[in-house]
Amino acid sequence: MNNGDVSQGRRRFLIGATSVVGGVGVVGAAVPFVASWNPSAKAEAAGAPVTVNVSKLEAGQQMTVEWRGKPVWIIRRTDEMNDNILELNDVVKDPLSKESKQPAYIDGELRALKDDYAVVVGICTHLGCSPQFRPEVAPADLGEEWLGGFYCACHGSRYDLAGRVYPGQPAPTNLEVPPYRFDDENTVTVGLDPEGAA
Ligand code: FES
Repeated sequence: MNNGDVSQGRRRFLIGATSVVGGVGVVGAAVPFVASWNPSAKAEAAGAPVTVNVSKLEAGQQMTVEWRGKPVWIIRRTDEMNDNILELNDVVKDPLSKESKQPAYIDGELRALKDDYAVVVGICTHLGCSPQFRPEVAPADLGEEWLGGFYCACHGSRYDLAGRVYPGQPAPTNLEVPPYRFDDENTVTVGLDPEGAA
């Protein structure tokens, strides 16, 4: 696996490498780390919630945790990223995720409890590859129209930075949003609904 921008010194693995999943080869962009995650192997196998400290996740960065055997991405989105998502409302296939899998308490175009943190399951809704985090605007390989998002190299599906699929892609629906909540400003638990949510 390409470990990305090691030279910038921002990459930290505080737990075993098996906890970090998915494509992270984008220089200067994808910097996964997990600062706090310690479920027992037994609890993990049973699909226990995963609690993550996101305090060191910098704006524009992605981290990956594993929940129920699946990679779950947490992306700290910048205002510019969110503006770019909104620009794509008339472009993406299912802008309000009516046909896509997400908890009832997630709504709107940004698909997040807090606009500056995206939490999505990092598995392509086509055939299950893990797409790449491609936050750059208009990179040469993805074209001038690209405003940042996720690209699945298996069969070319494209998603925006809210995990919303572009039309005409092999992937039928948006990336899934898992149940999650903020326990406090810097702590996310994947696998638990917010207090009071159905
Ligand atoms: S699995 Fe992603 S495009 Fe086919």
